Amino acid sequence: MIDGKRVQTLYLDEEDQSLVVLDQTLLPGEIRYRHLRDAASVADAIGRLCVRGAPAIGVAAALGLYASAWTFRNEDDFAARLQEAAATIEAARPTAVNLSWAVARMRRAVQGLSGAQACLDALKAEAKRMYEEDRETNRRIGRFGAALLEDGFGVATHCNAGRLATVDFGTALAPLYEAKEQGKRLRVYVDETRPLLQGARLTAFELLASGLDVTLQCDGMAASAMQQGLVQAVLVGADRIAANGDTANKIGTLPLAICARHFGVPFYVCAPFSTIDQACADGSHIPVEERDGSEITDLWYAKPMAPKGVKTRNPAFDVTPAGLISALVTERGVLYPPFDLRTRG
Ligand code: MRU
Repeated sequence: MIDGKRVQTLYLDEEDQSLVVLDQTLLPGEIRYRHLRDAASVADAIGRLCVRGAPAIGVAAALGLYASAWTFRNEDDFAARLQEAAATIEAARPTAVNLSWAVARMRRAVQGLSGAQACLDALKAEAKRMYEEDRETNRRIGRFGAALLEDGFGVATHCNAGRLATVDFGTALAPLYEAKEQGKRLRVYVDETRPLLQGARLTAFELLASGLDVTLQCDGMAASAMQQGLVQAVLVGADRIAANGDTANKIGTLPLAICARHFGVPFYVCAPFSTIDQACADGSHIPVEERDGSEITDLWYAKPMAPKGVKTRNPAFDVTPAGLISALVTERGVLYPPFDLRTRG
Protein backbone atom coordinates (compact mmCIF):
# COMPACT_ATOMS: atom_id res chain seq x y z
CA MET A 1 0.00 0.00 0.00
CA ILE A 2 1.44 3.35 -1.05
CA ASP A 3 1.60 5.90 1.76
CA GLY A 4 0.26 9.07 0.16
CA LYS A 5 1.21 11.13 3.19
CA ARG A 6 4.90 10.52 2.77
CA VAL A 7 5.22 11.51 -0.88
CA GLN A 8 6.94 14.76 -1.75
CA THR A 9 5.90 16.65 -4.88
CA LEU A 10 9.33 18.08 -5.67
CA TYR A 11 12.59 19.08 -4.02
CA LEU A 12 16.20 19.94 -4.72
CA ASP A 13 18.62 17.07 -4.23
CA GLU A 14 21.54 18.92 -2.67
CA GLU A 15 23.90 16.00 -3.23
CA ASP A 16 23.72 15.88 -6.99
CA GLN A 17 22.13 19.33 -7.50
CA SER A 18 19.17 17.90 -9.41
CA LEU A 19 15.50 18.78 -9.34
CA VAL A 20 13.60 15.75 -8.11
CA VAL A 21 9.93 15.42 -9.06
CA LEU A 22 7.42 12.76 -8.19
CA ASP A 23 6.18 11.42 -11.54
CA GLN A 24 2.47 12.14 -11.18
CA THR A 25 1.59 10.39 -14.44
CA LEU A 26 2.13 7.10 -12.56
CA LEU A 27 -0.08 7.89 -9.57
CA PRO A 28 -1.85 6.40 -7.76
CA GLY A 29 -0.32 3.07 -8.74
CA GLU A 30 3.37 3.77 -8.48
CA ILE A 31 5.70 6.13 -6.64
CA ARG A 32 8.66 7.02 -8.80
CA TYR A 33 10.88 10.06 -8.51
CA ARG A 34 12.72 11.54 -11.48
CA HIS A 35 15.98 13.43 -11.21
CA LEU A 36 16.09 16.28 -13.72
CA ARG A 37 19.31 18.03 -14.58
CA ASP A 38 18.79 20.01 -17.76
CA ALA A 39 16.27 22.50 -19.10
CA ALA A 40 14.93 20.18 -21.79
CA SER A 41 14.11 17.46 -19.22
CA VAL A 42 12.52 20.00 -16.89
CA ALA A 43 10.36 21.37 -19.73
CA ASP A 44 9.47 17.83 -20.79
CA ALA A 45 8.45 16.85 -17.23
CA ILE A 46 6.24 19.95 -17.00
CA GLY A 47 4.76 19.40 -20.47
CA ARG A 48 3.95 15.73 -19.78
CA LEU A 49 2.44 16.60 -16.35
CA CYS A 50 4.98 14.63 -14.32
CA VAL A 51 4.93 17.78 -12.25
CA ARG A 52 1.81 19.90 -12.60
CA GLY A 53 -0.41 22.40 -10.82
CA ALA A 54 0.39 26.10 -11.10
CA PRO A 55 2.47 26.66 -7.93
CA ALA A 56 4.38 23.38 -8.35
CA ILE A 57 5.17 24.25 -11.96
CA GLY A 58 6.56 27.61 -10.83
CA VAL A 59 8.81 26.14 -8.14
CA ALA A 60 9.88 23.29 -10.45
CA ALA A 61 10.86 25.87 -13.06
CA ALA A 62 12.98 27.77 -10.53
CA LEU A 63 14.73 24.73 -9.05
CA GLY A 64 15.06 23.23 -12.54
CA LEU A 65 16.71 26.35 -13.89
CA TYR A 66 19.22 26.29 -11.05
CA ALA A 67 19.89 22.57 -11.60
CA SER A 68 20.49 23.04 -15.29
CA ALA A 69 22.73 26.09 -14.71
CA TRP A 70 24.82 23.94 -12.40
CA THR A 71 25.56 21.50 -15.24
CA PHE A 72 27.04 24.20 -17.49
CA ARG A 73 28.68 26.26 -14.72
CA ASN A 74 32.15 25.76 -16.22
CA GLU A 75 31.25 26.72 -19.78
CA ASP A 76 32.50 29.98 -21.29
CA ASP A 77 29.06 30.86 -22.63
CA PHE A 78 27.38 30.42 -19.21
CA ALA A 79 25.30 33.63 -19.46
CA ALA A 80 23.95 32.81 -22.92
CA ARG A 81 23.16 29.24 -21.91
CA LEU A 82 21.34 30.45 -18.84
CA GLN A 83 19.08 32.65 -20.97
CA GLU A 84 18.48 29.74 -23.33
CA ALA A 85 17.60 27.38 -20.46
CA ALA A 86 15.21 29.96 -18.98
CA ALA A 87 13.44 30.34 -22.32
CA THR A 88 13.14 26.56 -22.76
CA ILE A 89 11.59 26.08 -19.34
CA GLU A 90 9.30 29.09 -19.67
CA ALA A 91 7.84 27.72 -22.90
CA ALA A 92 6.87 24.35 -21.38
CA ARG A 93 3.20 25.23 -20.80
CA PRO A 94 1.29 28.43 -21.54
CA THR A 95 -1.59 28.84 -19.07
CA ALA A 96 -0.25 28.73 -15.51
CA VAL A 97 1.23 32.18 -15.01
CA ASN A 98 3.32 30.91 -12.08
CA LEU A 99 5.71 29.48 -14.67
CA SER A 100 6.66 32.80 -16.27
CA TRP A 101 6.41 34.52 -12.87
CA ALA A 102 9.00 32.11 -11.44
CA VAL A 103 11.34 32.36 -14.42
CA ALA A 104 11.11 36.18 -14.28
CA ARG A 105 12.11 36.09 -10.59
CA MET A 106 15.08 33.90 -11.44
CA ARG A 107 16.14 36.26 -14.24
CA ARG A 108 15.91 39.21 -11.85
CA ALA A 109 17.98 37.35 -9.26
CA VAL A 110 21.01 37.27 -11.56
CA GLN A 111 20.61 40.74 -13.03
CA GLY A 112 23.83 42.74 -12.72
CA LEU A 113 25.86 39.75 -11.47
CA SER A 114 28.98 38.57 -13.23
CA GLY A 115 30.60 35.18 -13.02
CA ALA A 116 28.97 31.77 -12.97
CA GLN A 117 29.47 31.16 -9.25
CA ALA A 118 27.77 34.40 -8.22
CA CYS A 119 24.86 33.58 -10.53
CA LEU A 120 24.60 30.01 -9.24
CA ASP A 121 24.51 31.19 -5.63
CA ALA A 122 21.80 33.73 -6.46
CA LEU A 123 19.74 31.22 -8.47
CA LYS A 124 19.88 28.63 -5.73
CA ALA A 125 18.94 31.11 -3.02
CA GLU A 126 16.02 32.49 -5.03
CA ALA A 127 14.66 29.05 -5.95
CA LYS A 128 14.86 27.88 -2.33
CA ARG A 129 13.12 31.08 -1.22
CA MET A 130 10.24 30.36 -3.63
CA TYR A 131 10.03 26.82 -2.28
CA GLU A 132 9.69 28.03 1.31
CA GLU A 133 7.33 30.86 0.37
CA ASP A 134 5.01 28.40 -1.35
CA ARG A 135 4.72 26.30 1.79
CA GLU A 136 3.95 29.36 3.96
CA THR A 137 1.54 30.80 1.37
CA ASN A 138 -0.48 27.60 1.30
CA ARG A 139 -0.69 27.43 5.08
CA ARG A 140 -2.13 30.92 5.09
CA ILE A 141 -4.63 30.11 2.31
CA GLY A 142 -5.61 27.09 4.39
CA ARG A 143 -6.29 29.19 7.46
CA PHE A 144 -8.33 31.83 5.59
CA GLY A 145 -10.23 29.19 3.64
CA ALA A 146 -11.02 26.99 6.64
CA ALA A 147 -12.88 29.89 8.23
CA LEU A 148 -15.39 29.66 5.36
CA LEU A 149 -16.16 26.01 6.07
CA GLU A 150 -18.53 24.84 8.79
CA ASP A 151 -18.58 21.53 10.57
CA GLY A 152 -20.68 19.09 8.52
CA PHE A 153 -20.19 20.85 5.17
CA GLY A 154 -20.04 18.94 1.90
CA VAL A 155 -17.30 20.47 -0.27
CA ALA A 156 -16.86 19.89 -4.01
CA THR A 157 -13.54 20.25 -5.79
CA HIS A 158 -12.22 19.80 -9.31
CA CYS A 159 -8.81 18.71 -10.61
CA ASN A 160 -5.97 18.69 -8.08
CA ALA A 161 -5.00 21.83 -6.20
CA GLY A 162 -3.50 20.02 -3.25
CA ARG A 163 -0.14 18.91 -1.91
CA LEU A 164 0.66 17.43 -5.32
CA ALA A 165 0.08 20.75 -7.07
CA THR A 166 2.30 22.72 -4.70
CA VAL A 167 5.37 22.25 -2.53
CA ASP A 168 3.07 21.20 0.30
CA PHE A 169 -0.47 21.54 1.66
CA GLY A 170 -2.08 22.85 -1.55
CA THR A 171 -4.29 25.82 -2.32
CA ALA A 172 -7.89 24.62 -2.75
CA LEU A 173 -7.27 21.56 -0.58
CA ALA A 174 -5.40 23.52 2.11
CA PRO A 175 -8.64 24.71 3.77
CA LEU A 176 -9.79 21.08 3.97
CA TYR A 177 -6.59 20.01 5.71
CA GLU A 178 -6.76 23.00 8.04
CA ALA A 179 -10.46 22.47 8.83
CA LYS A 180 -9.75 18.83 9.63
CA GLU A 181 -6.96 19.87 12.00
CA GLN A 182 -9.50 22.18 13.65
CA GLY A 183 -11.82 19.21 14.22
CA LYS A 184 -14.42 20.05 11.57
CA ARG A 185 -15.98 17.06 9.85
CA LEU A 186 -16.30 17.52 6.11
CA ARG A 187 -17.45 15.38 3.19
CA VAL A 188 -15.43 16.03 0.05
CA TYR A 189 -16.86 15.38 -3.43
CA VAL A 190 -14.03 15.01 -5.90
CA ASP A 191 -14.68 15.34 -9.65
CA GLU A 192 -12.66 12.71 -11.51
CA THR A 193 -11.53 15.49 -13.93
CA ARG A 194 -11.40 14.23 -17.46
CA PRO A 195 -9.41 13.87 -19.58
CA LEU A 196 -6.38 13.16 -17.39
CA LEU A 197 -8.16 12.29 -14.13
CA GLN A 198 -6.24 14.56 -11.77
CA GLY A 199 -9.22 14.38 -9.40
CA ALA A 200 -9.40 10.60 -9.34
CA ARG A 201 -5.69 9.84 -9.50
CA LEU A 202 -4.31 12.68 -7.38
CA THR A 203 -6.91 14.47 -5.27
CA ALA A 204 -8.68 11.32 -4.08
CA PHE A 205 -5.25 9.82 -3.40
CA GLU A 206 -3.94 12.62 -1.23
CA LEU A 207 -7.20 13.36 0.60
CA LEU A 208 -7.73 9.69 1.46
CA ALA A 209 -4.15 9.47 2.70
CA SER A 210 -4.90 12.35 5.06
CA GLY A 211 -8.00 10.68 6.43
CA LEU A 212 -10.68 12.90 4.88
CA ASP A 213 -14.12 11.60 3.94
CA VAL A 214 -13.81 11.41 0.15
CA THR A 215 -16.42 10.58 -2.49
CA LEU A 216 -15.24 10.33 -6.08
CA GLN A 217 -17.71 11.24 -8.81
CA CYS A 218 -17.62 11.60 -12.59
CA ASP A 219 -17.56 15.25 -13.69
CA GLY A 220 -21.13 15.09 -14.96
CA MET A 221 -22.39 14.08 -11.51
CA ALA A 222 -21.43 17.32 -9.77
CA ALA A 223 -24.71 19.04 -10.66
CA SER A 224 -26.88 16.33 -9.15
CA ALA A 225 -24.80 16.34 -5.96
CA MET A 226 -25.62 20.05 -5.61
CA GLN A 227 -29.26 19.50 -6.53
CA GLN A 228 -29.51 16.92 -3.78
CA GLY A 229 -28.12 19.37 -1.22
CA LEU A 230 -24.89 17.44 -0.64
CA VAL A 231 -22.59 20.39 -1.34
CA GLN A 232 -22.34 23.58 0.74
CA ALA A 233 -19.18 25.03 -0.83
CA VAL A 234 -16.96 24.58 -3.89
CA LEU A 235 -13.18 25.07 -3.62
CA VAL A 236 -11.00 25.14 -6.72
CA GLY A 237 -7.51 26.35 -7.58
CA ALA A 238 -6.40 28.59 -10.44
CA ASP A 239 -3.80 28.68 -13.17
CA ARG A 240 -4.14 32.36 -14.00
CA ILE A 241 -6.39 35.05 -12.57
CA ALA A 242 -6.90 38.13 -14.71
CA ALA A 243 -6.97 41.62 -13.18
CA ASN A 244 -10.79 41.62 -13.18
CA GLY A 245 -10.96 38.25 -11.39
CA ASP A 246 -11.75 36.03 -14.41
CA THR A 247 -10.06 32.74 -13.58
CA ALA A 248 -8.52 30.01 -15.72
CA ASN A 249 -8.49 26.60 -14.10
CA LYS A 250 -8.74 22.99 -15.25
CA ILE A 251 -11.31 22.32 -17.96
CA GLY A 252 -14.60 21.54 -16.26
CA THR A 253 -14.28 24.26 -13.62
CA LEU A 254 -16.64 26.58 -15.51
CA PRO A 255 -19.60 24.12 -15.52
CA LEU A 256 -19.06 23.61 -11.80
CA ALA A 257 -19.21 27.39 -11.23
CA ILE A 258 -22.38 27.67 -13.32
CA CYS A 259 -24.00 24.85 -11.31
CA ALA A 260 -22.90 26.41 -8.03
CA ARG A 261 -24.53 29.71 -8.99
CA HIS A 262 -27.70 27.91 -10.09
CA PHE A 263 -28.00 26.02 -6.82
CA GLY A 264 -26.87 28.89 -4.58
CA VAL A 265 -23.64 27.22 -3.47
CA PRO A 266 -20.65 29.53 -2.78
CA PHE A 267 -17.83 29.07 -5.28
CA TYR A 268 -14.37 29.88 -3.92
CA VAL A 269 -11.13 30.16 -5.90
CA CYS A 270 -8.08 29.53 -3.70
CA ALA A 271 -4.80 30.81 -5.11
CA PRO A 272 -1.64 32.70 -4.22
CA PHE A 273 -0.94 36.19 -5.52
CA SER A 274 1.66 34.67 -7.84
CA THR A 275 -1.28 33.30 -9.88
CA ILE A 276 -2.69 36.79 -10.49
CA ASP A 277 -1.67 38.24 -13.83
CA GLN A 278 -2.08 41.97 -13.54
CA ALA A 279 -1.01 42.45 -17.13
CA CYS A 280 -4.02 40.46 -18.24
CA ALA A 281 -7.10 42.69 -18.16
CA ASP A 282 -9.68 39.92 -18.40
CA GLY A 283 -10.12 36.24 -19.18
CA SER A 284 -10.26 36.73 -22.95
CA HIS A 285 -6.50 37.39 -22.86
CA ILE A 286 -5.57 34.20 -20.99
CA PRO A 287 -3.76 31.72 -23.26
CA VAL A 288 -5.48 28.35 -23.01
CA GLU A 289 -3.32 25.31 -23.65
CA GLU A 290 -4.64 22.91 -26.28
CA ARG A 291 -3.42 19.37 -25.66
CA ASP A 292 -3.29 16.28 -27.82
CA GLY A 293 -6.64 14.70 -28.60
CA SER A 294 -5.31 11.26 -27.73
CA GLU A 295 -5.75 12.22 -24.07
CA ILE A 296 -9.49 12.06 -24.75
CA THR A 297 -9.58 9.04 -27.04
CA ASP A 298 -6.92 6.90 -25.34
CA LEU A 299 -5.94 8.63 -22.07
CA TRP A 300 -2.47 7.14 -21.43
CA TYR A 301 -3.44 3.57 -22.06
CA ALA A 302 -3.00 1.37 -25.08
CA LYS A 303 -6.69 0.53 -25.38
CA PRO A 304 -8.69 3.13 -27.36
CA MET A 305 -11.84 4.50 -25.74
CA ALA A 306 -13.22 6.12 -28.90
CA PRO A 307 -13.45 5.18 -32.57
CA LYS A 308 -10.27 5.76 -34.53
CA GLY A 309 -10.31 8.98 -36.53
CA VAL A 310 -12.94 10.82 -34.46
CA LYS A 311 -12.34 14.58 -34.19
CA THR A 312 -11.49 15.92 -30.75
CA ARG A 313 -11.01 19.23 -29.00
CA ASN A 314 -8.91 19.21 -25.88
CA PRO A 315 -8.52 22.61 -24.21
CA ALA A 316 -6.80 21.92 -20.90
CA PHE A 317 -8.41 24.88 -19.11
CA ASP A 318 -11.54 26.98 -19.13
CA VAL A 319 -12.13 30.50 -17.88
CA THR A 320 -14.70 31.15 -15.18
CA PRO A 321 -16.02 34.73 -15.32
CA ALA A 322 -15.42 36.74 -12.16
CA GLY A 323 -19.18 37.17 -11.79
CA LEU A 324 -19.52 33.49 -10.85
CA ILE A 325 -16.83 33.64 -8.16
CA SER A 326 -17.99 34.24 -4.59
CA ALA A 327 -14.51 35.05 -3.27
CA LEU A 328 -10.79 34.63 -3.91
CA VAL A 329 -8.99 33.01 -1.00
CA THR A 330 -5.38 34.23 -1.03
CA GLU A 331 -2.45 34.25 1.38
CA ARG A 332 -3.31 37.88 2.16
CA GLY A 333 -6.92 37.17 3.03
CA VAL A 334 -10.30 36.60 1.40
CA LEU A 335 -11.14 39.02 -1.43
CA TYR A 336 -14.77 39.60 -2.31
CA PRO A 337 -16.19 40.99 -5.57
CA PRO A 338 -16.01 43.29 -7.36
CA PHE A 339 -12.41 42.23 -7.93
CA ASP A 340 -9.88 44.83 -9.01
CA LEU A 341 -6.51 43.19 -8.79
CA ARG A 342 -4.60 45.70 -10.92
CA THR A 343 -2.97 47.53 -8.05
CA ARG A 344 -2.36 44.63 -5.69
CA GLY A 345 1.31 43.96 -6.42
O1 MRU B 1 -3.13 20.49 -16.04
P1 MRU B 1 -2.84 20.62 -14.58
O2 MRU B 1 -2.98 19.33 -13.84
O3 MRU B 1 -1.53 21.30 -14.32
O4 MRU B 1 -3.99 21.59 -14.05
C1 MRU B 1 -3.93 21.99 -12.70
C2 MRU B 1 -5.06 22.85 -12.28
O5 MRU B 1 -5.91 23.23 -13.07
C3 MRU B 1 -5.05 23.31 -10.86
O6 MRU B 1 -6.35 23.46 -10.37
C4 MRU B 1 -4.32 24.66 -10.76
O7 MRU B 1 -3.08 24.59 -11.37
C5 MRU B 1 -4.14 25.09 -9.35
S1 MRU B 1 -3.00 24.07 -8.49
C6 MRU B 1 -2.84 24.67 -6.92
